Amino acid sequence: DWRMDSFVESSIESIREKVGDGKVLLALSGGVDSSVAAGLLSRAIGKQLTCVFVDHGLLRKNEGDEVEAVFGPEGDFDLNFIRVNAQERYYNKLAGVTEPEQKRKIIGEEFIRVFEEEAKKIGAVDFLAQGTIYPDVVESGLGGESAVIKSHHNVGGLPDFVDFKEIIEPLRDLFKDEVRKAGLELGIPEDLVFRQPFPGPGLGIRIIGEVTAEKVRIVQDADAIYREEIAKAGLDKEINQYFAALTNMRSVGVMGDERTYDYAVALRAVKTIDFMTAEAAEIPFEVLQKVMSRIINEVKGVNRVFYDLTSKPPGTIELE
Ligand code: XMP
Repeated sequence: DWRMDSFVESSIESIREKVGDGKVLLALSGGVDSSVAAGLLSRAIGKQLTCVFVDHGLLRKNEGDEVEAVFGPEGDFDLNFIRVNAQERYYNKLAGVTEPEQKRKIIGEEFIRVFEEEAKKIGAVDFLAQGTIYPDVVESGLGGESAVIKSHHNVGGLPDFVDFKEIIEPLRDLFKDEVRKAGLELGIPEDLVFRQPFPGPGLGIRIIGEVTAEKVRIVQDADAIYREEIAKAGLDKEINQYFAALTNMRSVGVMGDERTYDYAVALRAVKTIDFMTAEAAEIPFEVLQKVMSRIINEVKGVNRVFYDLTSKPPGTIELE
């Protein structure tokens, strides 16, 4: 694509010009935008870029390792990659907390604390990079829903406590599809470039009630099975967002000749254009049955699976 070729080329030039021999710090979430920003900055300035990736233990199964495989020392990008394994810290903070807004707040604040600690170790930088894209610019101007959502967690709120001189936002003029094209152009793997949206608070808001390491394990395993079967059925490009969530409900079942009393998993899948309104996707019944039977057989602690039919509104896409 010649337009993206020229975007990548020209923005590498302008990043070099702007940054000079300065240092740049980026909070890498593993989402599309921060990943493309990381790739672009890396191509432009190499090791002058440091990326801090906080693994809060609320990512999808294997996601932390996938991000590390792309941007870590074994990957194709030249940069300083710092992975912070903060799982325990988050689980400790979240112990006993059940109220959704409280959970979001704790996850957001802990992120800031962890990032701040890393930034202190790195010391003063010249630039703080952000993966802001054009719709973010417009939405925060209008105070849209997404701006409100993002204020909970996304890197938008970071600047106050990192010692830096200037913000650099290389994707500021791009729409999402252009960001993806630039990502492919830069050699970022397709599964990362076409990754579905994932909320900042991660699985923390897909586990209803208290978050524990055990519940995270359950929802990660169930979600991995669900995603695998959706992809096998060829539905992954059609459904805009789909995931497993863990209800806080346990119910009675039988397994062999044993009575069980285990959790119920909820499967969510939506079709949407703008994520402001959405409808449950029509997944063929055989696919749902396959997912149900695999989850119950393969994921310890689950004995029931529900499909969430709720539209948005009145429901939200996430369960919390
Ligand atoms: P809801 O649940 O509000 O979600 O219908 C709409 C879209 O926003 C995502 N979402 C978030 N994204 N931080 C984010 O970065 C958040 O706190 C957050 N909450 C929801 C959600 O995954 C869906 O795509």
